[in-house]
Amino acid sequence: MIPAAVRQSGGQAVAFDVAKVRADFPILSEIVHGKPLVYLDSANTSQKPLSVIKAMDDYYRHANANIHRATHLLSERATGLYEGARKKAAAFLNAADPHTIVLTKGTTDGINLVAQSYGRTYLTSGDEIVLSWLEHHSNIVPWQIVAQQTGATIKVVPINDAGELDLEEYRRLLSPRTKIVAVGHVSNALGTINPVKQMIAQAHTVGAVVLVDGAQAAPHLPIDVQDLDCDFYAFSGHKMYAPTGSGIIYGKAELLEKMDPFQGGGDMIKSVTFEKTVYAELPNKLEAGTPAIASQIGLGAAIDYLNSIGREAAAVYEAELLRYATERVSAIEGVRIIGTARNKASVLSFVIDDIHPHDIGTILDQEGIAVRAGHHCAQPVMQRFNVPATARASFAFYNTKEEVDVLARTIERVIEIFS
Ligand SMILES: Cc1ncc(COP(=O)(O)O)c(C=O)c1O
Repeated sequence: MIPAAVRQSGGQAVAFDVAKVRADFPILSEIVHGKPLVYLDSANTSQKPLSVIKAMDDYYRHANANIHRATHLLSERATGLYEGARKKAAAFLNAADPHTIVLTKGTTDGINLVAQSYGRTYLTSGDEIVLSWLEHHSNIVPWQIVAQQTGATIKVVPINDAGELDLEEYRRLLSPRTKIVAVGHVSNALGTINPVKQMIAQAHTVGAVVLVDGAQAAPHLPIDVQDLDCDFYAFSGHKMYAPTGSGIIYGKAELLEKMDPFQGGGDMIKSVTFEKTVYAELPNKLEAGTPAIASQIGLGAAIDYLNSIGREAAAVYEAELLRYATERVSAIEGVRIIGTARNKASVLSFVIDDIHPHDIGTILDQEGIAVRAGHHCAQPVMQRFNVPATARASFAFYNTKEEVDVLARTIERVIEIFS
């Protein structure tokens, strides 16, 4: 099913030239174990288009210097490119002001920043943090750490057998004690798209602050932080065609303003004496030390790339790919899809009776197919479905129905081998 967020008005088909797009990703022509690569692990990390690789290469050839500090031309170039990435990220999320975008190493880094700089200061004993059963460990463990530090407690929104949040229970969990809600926009283990806009509005009625983990949404869905009215929104560059080490967290200005840094160092101060340090203005006060300059420049290039191919057309194409993959794979006898939410993005998790997902992953790999097999850093989801692990095929707009056919045929082969 095409998520409402990406459906075109009038429902007409949107043109998307997958062959042209594939040519932008050099690694997709790789041969592995003598077979053409079928890369179905983009939820883990996506591949990078040439324009991103080139942006980093250009930076190292023509602009490599530290940012914000030096008076020479290369530093000016590097600073311009780095700050340019911030502006592009702001536009990507429709944030009104680039100063509300803190550049991070990725989603984990952003969530830990909020947990420590906001949570540790403003949570006290008796306060509650609401998470969901679908969360990635990155959106669980930082809250457990801050709960231990402050005496706050964690409440968890359950999920149904399809992998959808129980929204009635969510409403019941919200109370004046709820100070933070931290929820994923799209589940990495199951692909469920959560109704975050509605959840944010409900959390605000009890005065809670909402952080959205957008790691799996940023590569697939249009995101508008003003429309969502979220307080924080985090994503990782490497899952959306940018290099590892890049990412952002958006925060409402009034919240970022009242957060003290949780890391100190260079580039985040106005003045330092042994008696007193005055922090820099936003966003620098929350970006201590030399950042991953080339990676963030690569993130800017990835955003340009996404805009150039048309995010909406790509999302419609991906939705059809997921529909097709679900139909093909669920038709295979012995395969059980884990995560059958009505609203899903780009993830197909499955198990096969009596075959361990690692064995599935290993045999698929021999045929050139890269999937992830494991708990996907979401052990509570595995516990909920009573499985140790799943095999997960995750799709990007550079995948094709022919690749889905190769996947389905090879899964059938796996079953034959073990029968
Ligand atoms: C939903 C979700 N949240 C957070 C993360 C953590 O992202 P990173 O490791 O890039 O910080 C991931 C990574 O798989 C994820 O899928």
